[in-house]
Amino acid sequence: MTPLIIDTDPGVDDAFALAVACLAPEVDLLAVTTVHGNVGVEQTTENARRLLGTFGRPDVPVGRGADRPLVYLLDQRADDVHGDDGLGGKALDFGPPVDESPLRAVALMASVLEQATEPVTIAAIGPYTNIATLLSARPDLESRIGRFVLMGGSVAYGGNVTAAAEFNVWGDPEAARRILAGSRVPTTLVPLDLTMRITLSADWLDDLARTSPIGAALSSTRDAYLAAYSARFGTPAIAVHDAVAVLEAIVPGTVRTMPVPVDVDTSFGPGRGATIADMRGAEAVVMGRPVDVALDADATFVRAELRRRLCAER
Ligand code: BDR
Ligand code: CA
Repeated sequence: MTPLIIDTDPGVDDAFALAVACLAPEVDLLAVTTVHGNVGVEQTTENARRLLGTFGRPDVPVGRGADRPLVYLLDQRADDVHGDDGLGGKALDFGPPVDESPLRAVALMASVLEQATEPVTIAAIGPYTNIATLLSARPDLESRIGRFVLMGGSVAYGGNVTAAAEFNVWGDPEAARRILAGSRVPTTLVPLDLTMRITLSADWLDDLARTSPIGAALSSTRDAYLAAYSARFGTPAIAVHDAVAVLEAIVPGTVRTMPVPVDVDTSFGPGRGATIADMRGAEAVVMGRPVDVALDADATFVRAELRRRLCAER
């Protein structure tokens, strides 16, 4: 079983990702930690607690994390896409919320890592503030992290918040730089280039809703999200970015990767929050280190796996 921590800002696609993890027989879900992002951390924490209740995992500790980025005060939200409550206006339909851990996110992750008997995978599907703080606060635990799987960034696709920046990196570019360029943990980055290609249609979501109560609950969160994607791309389909990253955390090799150095623009020009991947390859490291950037996957297979896993019994 893969020991797994998920750091998240639920979030419609975070909800899909958490469901995949909760239902996965290959996973030992050790903790869920929350972060500012799609909505404020108060709401993302409540959402995570409700989602774990709905997905039958009241035993998984939920630790509340950072309410802002490492350096600059930024009140960036994505409530236009995820709804005021982060779950498409349906948060109260989930739950009831499981207890919140008395340990805050970084302390909870540290406690899990201290007790771990094998390397732990951390999937980060919101801004990376908590994990950057963990590495700074407890460098002694870095070697206990087997792998980071990060949803975020963009190689050639462009941004989804600004012309250059993807949401999770834009939410804390200094933290992203600390992880991508400054950590030694083997890291897989799942950027927009890939996740925007693995869309789920309204029909797919209707079908999911018929399969199980969890499928119905997930599908019910889609209205604002689907409207936002349809308005931008002209087709009624959504990208569940975070679920693709968590699937890769559960089943390594789901995505095809290339080792390249990735740095983050932390300047204050139009490039702030851009991930700069040196596609010359691993040998091109000037500063930092190579990370495995996911640029390809079998989209049909990934869709089928999400469908299969989201209607599984626990
Ligand atoms: C990322 O931004 C958030 O809005 C989603 O939950 C996902 O983690 C996609 O850019
Ligand atoms: Ca997210």
